[in-house]
Amino acid sequence: MAHTDINQGRRRLLITATSVVGAAGVAAVAAPFLNSWNPSARALAAGAPIEVDISKVEPGQLLRVIWRGKPVWVVNRTPEMLTNLPANDQSLRDPASEVVEQQPAYAQNPHRSRKPEYLVLVGICTHLGCSPTYRPEVAPEDLGADWKGGWYCPCHGSRFDLAGRVYKNVPAATNLVVPPYYFKDDATLLIGEDGNVA
Ligand code: FES
Repeated sequence: MAHTDINQGRRRLLITATSVVGAAGVAAVAAPFLNSWNPSARALAAGAPIEVDISKVEPGQLLRVIWRGKPVWVVNRTPEMLTNLPANDQSLRDPASEVVEQQPAYAQNPHRSRKPEYLVLVGICTHLGCSPTYRPEVAPEDLGADWKGGWYCPCHGSRFDLAGRVYKNVPAATNLVVPPYYFKDDATLLIGEDGNVA
């Protein structure tokens, strides 16, 4: 759609920053910035794991951080978002996450995550590497009545649901990647390691 086309440059800038996108605000509302992660420059350069404070991520919000130079999204999914996931299965290419390279074993489940509410994804389209747009709304006019929230890639139109699962009949062939991560505690996520927690 026109809105996403004209904002490509801006979006590329935004993926370098940590930001929050609310369920109502979509891409236009990328502020306020959350100072919720504090990896050192040296740690980032080395590709070290990063700690992320998720205590301020409200239900429906997406927190964007950078790990190993890539955007990583953390979404606090609402109960409604989780309830809606199974309804997408018939429209998806890999609803059961059978392509094992796309997620650690602990995320090969219907919600593709360790805890149902928190989804952690590498924010890079599995087609040609654009950064898809967070579209959490249900049935927006441009995405159709069946849309239950997810991501839309403005480059060539790939669609992913709120578990990062790719739809059929789009250019991307695989689900979005779930990186290794674990919860150090209820408020702290560590991205880049599997940890010892099941
Ligand atoms: S890069 Fe996303 S659809 Fe092509």
